[in-house]
Amino acid sequence: MLNKFLVITAVSLMSLIIVSCDRDSASEAKKVTKKKETEIVQNNSKRWYTSSQSMRGRQVFKDNCATCHGDKGQGLAEDWRKPLANDTYPAPPLNGTAHTWHHSKEALLRTINNGGIPLGGTMPQFKDSLTDKQKEEVLAYVMSLWPNNIYMAWKERNPS
Ligand code: HEC
Repeated sequence: MLNKFLVITAVSLMSLIIVSCDRDSASEAKKVTKKKETEIVQNNSKRWYTSSQSMRGRQVFKDNCATCHGDKGQGLAEDWRKPLANDTYPAPPLNGTAHTWHHSKEALLRTINNGGIPLGGTMPQFKDSLTDKQKEEVLAYVMSLWPNNIYMAWKERNPS
């Protein structure tokens, strides 16, 4: 009788251990997957600039770009897609709500360097008035205005 009781206890103890082991490994696997997912999101949304670069860029932006693009890059025109009376286009928002994120970093730097006048636009050029460092910083600030999903969409178009 006592033997039978011991066997039953041992068996149920063992199954308890097995079940809890299973549960452990399942939750462990879930944790690993979750960790991987967060890593992927973090890697994809990891920005190319440092926060001090974008902070310095904020001042460059304020001094050189905000009069046309708005102090937070929100644009000042009611509709940036609508040409003005003189047939040119208003300065678009740069904060991720327009199409700035369609362009590579090189293309954006080109716009900052050459402005829009060679292409029939009105943006002045900054080739000589800003240093290369300031151009990178102002771009860092512009991108810091983009929410993660926009930054990730940009990065997908522009890997490397
Ligand atoms: C005098 C007004 C003016 C100033 C100042 C100005 N921009 Fe622009 N920007 C424009 C206009 C207008 C456009 C649209 C293209 C055109 O007409 O040249 C434009 C376009 C752009 C674009 C392309 C946006 C896109 O979605 O493709 C970028 C990037 C940009 N500007 C960045 C800057 C930065 C950075 C500065 C400051 C260093 C700056 N701009 C200063 C008027 C200005």
